[in-house]
Amino acid sequence: MNNIRKPILDVLRRQIPEHNPIWLMRQAGRYLPEYRDIRSKSKNFVNMCLTPELATEITLLPIRKFDMDAAILFADILLIPLALGLALDFRDGEGPVLQTTPNEKIIDALSYQEEKISSVFETLRRVKLQLPEKTTLIGFCGAPWTVACYMIDGHSRNSFALSKSWVKERPELLKKLISILIDASEKYLGAQIEAGAEAVQIFDSWAGLLSGIDFSRFVIEPTKELVRRLKIKYPLVPITGFPRQAREGYAPYIRQTGIDALSIDQFANLDDAKRDLQSVKPLQGNLDPALLVKGGEEMRNAAGQILTKLGSQHIFNLGHGVLPETPPEHVAELVRFVKEFHV
Ligand code: CP3
Repeated sequence: MNNIRKPILDVLRRQIPEHNPIWLMRQAGRYLPEYRDIRSKSKNFVNMCLTPELATEITLLPIRKFDMDAAILFADILLIPLALGLALDFRDGEGPVLQTTPNEKIIDALSYQEEKISSVFETLRRVKLQLPEKTTLIGFCGAPWTVACYMIDGHSRNSFALSKSWVKERPELLKKLISILIDASEKYLGAQIEAGAEAVQIFDSWAGLLSGIDFSRFVIEPTKELVRRLKIKYPLVPITGFPRQAREGYAPYIRQTGIDALSIDQFANLDDAKRDLQSVKPLQGNLDPALLVKGGEEMRNAAGQILTKLGSQHIFNLGHGVLPETPPEHVAELVRFVKEFHV
């Protein structure tokens, strides 16, 4: 019997952790010189994600450097569209460009071929072997709505105008696309769990584009169905949902989707979050990534407020990913501050 407790899993299972746990979205990214070094020697970003030697090394960077409480698999939410047969390109300074699915014929031709991305599972197995006993291994995927946005618009330059128009004008076709993504995400996350992921996170970065009935139909319902299927097979693996910028959508999302914890962005008010959300499930978040760039007293004060307000049923994180201009020393300082903080 192994009695080592993992602080992140403790919170996700509603137990009291031995210290305030912390990890950061995009903790293994461009702000790290070691990452930039590996990146400059690699063919391209997708190749890095799909090469277990490199992806393992990158996943472990923030663990070795800062002793984060979780390692998140180094990969990307757009690997599922890649496995569905779409061409994917990350150009420097431009973000991802994905081949689009403009009509029903192309959507009907999508076919999920897991072997195209199965090196990701090898990365998880390798990371698991090298992880400290207290560190939780987190797997992830994009939520069906957010991944559909990239498949419809191809990139984020037009703020997903076409995807938003499908919500009103082609809801049946959007539903069909989303149902393909639910099936693929179920398989992909299941395989990540089999390979060693101890918790998973569903990133719905563009959830905030929808509200009301549209939010319910295309954010809550697909997430709920994905969670339902995963819980049948893996009832003990916690699932965190991150419907970014959902505002008034957070409350129905946390109640209706079946997720175990909710990650909130930096725009969520802490008093409201404590009263309306943390009373239902544990929370994760929500330091403004810009304050991590600034560092110093302003960062510590804001982090102290979050820790004081949200207490022990909370995993410390940012409201979104670490920004590339973040000084690594600020990350080290934040981790120290959070782990040692007592009310
Ligand atoms: O968090 C981590 O450290 C784990 C790895 C991870 C990446 N992307 C690596 C990455 C995770 C969990 C993601 C999720 C992801 N990818 C999301 C959801 C979270 C969010 O940020 O909203 C989204 C929308 C994507 C799609 C994506 N990938 C975009 C829009 C971009 C370009 C913008 C940016 O921040 O660079 C990426 C590229 C990307 N994904 C990088 C990394 C480390 C940078 C790639 C590079 O080196 O140029």
